[in-house]
Amino acid sequence: MRRAFGILSLVLLLIASLSAANDLARPDLAQRVEALLKQMTLEEKVGQLVQYSAGDATGPVSEQVSFQELIAKGQLGSLLNVTGAAKTNALQRVAMEQSRLKIPLLFGLDVIHGYRTIFPVPLGMAATWEPQLVEQASRIAAQEATAEGVRWTFSPMVDIARDARWGRIVEGAGEDPYLGQLMAAAYVRGYQGDSLANPDSLAACVKHMAGYGASEGGRDYNAADISERTLRQIYLPPFKSAVDSGAATVMSAFNPLNGIPASANQMTLTRVLRHEWGFQGFVVSDWNAVAELIPQGVANDPATAARKAILAGVEMDMESGLYRRSLVELVRSGELPESVVDEAVRRVLRVKFALNLFDRPYVPVPASASPRLDAAHVELARTVAERSLVLLRNEEFHGSPLLPIASDKRTIALIGPLADSAVDMLGSWPGKGDANTAVTLKSALTQRMQQTGGQLLYAQGTGINSSSEGGFQEATDTVRRSDLVILALGEGAASMTGEAASRTRIDLPGNQQKLMETIVGTGKPVVLVLFNGRPLALPWAAAHVPAMVEAWYPGVQAGPALVRTLFGDVNFVGKLPVSIPRTVGQEPMYYNPPKTGRPAGNADLSHPPQNSAEKYVSRYIDEQNSPLFPFGFGLSYSRVAYSDVKPGSTSIDVQALNRRAGSVSVSATVSNRGPRATQEVVELYIGQRGTSVNLPAKELKGFKVVSLSPGESQVVEFKIGYDELAFWNEDMRYVVEPAQVTVWIAPDSVRGPSAQFTIVK
Ligand code: NOJ
Repeated sequence: MRRAFGILSLVLLLIASLSAANDLARPDLAQRVEALLKQMTLEEKVGQLVQYSAGDATGPVSEQVSFQELIAKGQLGSLLNVTGAAKTNALQRVAMEQSRLKIPLLFGLDVIHGYRTIFPVPLGMAATWEPQLVEQASRIAAQEATAEGVRWTFSPMVDIARDARWGRIVEGAGEDPYLGQLMAAAYVRGYQGDSLANPDSLAACVKHMAGYGASEGGRDYNAADISERTLRQIYLPPFKSAVDSGAATVMSAFNPLNGIPASANQMTLTRVLRHEWGFQGFVVSDWNAVAELIPQGVANDPATAARKAILAGVEMDMESGLYRRSLVELVRSGELPESVVDEAVRRVLRVKFALNLFDRPYVPVPASASPRLDAAHVELARTVAERSLVLLRNEEFHGSPLLPIASDKRTIALIGPLADSAVDMLGSWPGKGDANTAVTLKSALTQRMQQTGGQLLYAQGTGINSSSEGGFQEATDTVRRSDLVILALGEGAASMTGEAASRTRIDLPGNQQKLMETIVGTGKPVVLVLFNGRPLALPWAAAHVPAMVEAWYPGVQAGPALVRTLFGDVNFVGKLPVSIPRTVGQEPMYYNPPKTGRPAGNADLSHPPQNSAEKYVSRYIDEQNSPLFPFGFGLSYSRVAYSDVKPGSTSIDVQALNRRAGSVSVSATVSNRGPRATQEVVELYIGQRGTSVNLPAKELKGFKVVSLSPGESQVVEFKIGYDELAFWNEDMRYVVEPAQVTVWIAPDSVRGPSAQFTIVK
């Protein structure tokens, strides 16, 4: 009976996994693809592999081409950066009416965290630890984008980022592969919906394969050197998760990876992606990445670059023009088998058929474009923004915690360059977001204070990157007239975060630090609200400012979300998806490095862990090893206590685990000891010792969001089996080995009670 049930669940699982990915594996689709392929000339085939930008350039432009002419000749497969139903329809009409085979164009765009309704930046969305919210936000992005003819987004970016200097850390889910996998799948489900064939389904493009987040020194486009074990253990799982969820496309990265450019990398694009994972969609290169094989030194001429890229598994060439200029000749001269081109075309056509573009190439043009956002979309944007905020610090000021803001604070001073900057609230890659739809902290606070009969005073104080202290006096005068100060500081969204925005100083730019010290020096209670796309190392603030909120870039509902949370209408639930360092010198900083033979402190004895005084240990002589705020950390208006971690059994058989036939359940009690209802992200970490390879001391392997009323306790249980315990072992096999396992059920990656069990031979 148990066996039959096991088989049934396996079959159901298979069906479920197929239905997500089977859009591309449908037999009827294959027939249509083959029938069309047979009719195509070599020039038409190559045309399907060519993509150009026909709108704002999102990279360096190397050639000007006449799109209309190419489309009419059937020599262009896709355009990016074109939006609007009228514009996409007009170009599509050329393909459908003038080209011989009437193969529709596929329009792509970077829809990263919303199309018109802009949600928090992806790093902020990850801070919610709620994949279902990310899925809902992506669904809305898909509905808005597809209504304007865009059927393909270059998202999600799933690059694990362990270095805050890298500007693109803002575009991903942070440093952890487990959280990254869940978020990757959520984006894909949201964009693509139930079926790619639906008119509001947006094909996902999981990027940048692979290792782009490990660019050395955090400098964009730089080389990455990652061992195969680390690649498979840390960097690839979010890609696999997106592919398993049915992601229609993948983008190959710019960076050299272990000496081979990522866009000419057979190992990642063919061996892993196609053969090991059975990916059925197509790979598009990143912008001009095919041509960049030449400066990367693996091709001395355009034809070689094109040949290497397509042989490695890059099916579509974004913007370089090298496929257009070289592939036909390469096939004719016998240097490239036509079968390679055929396979690439097959994959591109498969996605176009799956999207139903042949039968529905156009989108309805709205009678009049409304500049207003849909109310339900805005409401979700506010919810996601509220839940992305992370309360980092909330000290007592005259006997009670500064937050939530008490009603006796009648006059509030709002200071800082991010307090009223609508455009910055949208973050980097804001799609078609319009700054006019973004509500700033200033405007939401003004409204709040009007409603409650209080007064808001405002002074900018300084610019984001300014050296002038001209505004300091006005700011301190304003502060002196207030009961409480909200300081809105941070980075410029477009200029300091995102692509090509690496920084060597991960502090407050310009003279914002000085402004902060001046304001805190007045003796007034200060709440620091940070708007930024990367962890900022702010040790002074963490020691001197009583309340600190990490707001990332919250999107169109930045102001309302912050006001509701700061005043306590809703509680803080967000937790950090990245470690926040004390100083840039600790980078790359992440909570799960391999274990050293000479650890510097005892993480279980002090919080935050302090380095021991011993000299010959793995440490800095001038700074603690620990982060300023650890991965997984976030406070709320309640206090949640963790106790009684208990494993269901103290040992389990390794063979059973490898047969996926067993698991250990581990439970803990979480109790709300605070005065308010709260939702707590309960995190599960695992550490293994005695294995054939050096695994991290702690790895996140699960989490649950638990609702707790004041005084309530709940038992939270996790099952730990093959998926949680397997790793790439000494022989590069993905297995469970005998080990001593420590399990933490914890509020973050440094605290929390633990228990142990043994995996026996
Ligand atoms: C370059 C970026 O690296 C990539 O993420 C983006 O999708 C393309 N440009 C297209 O804009």
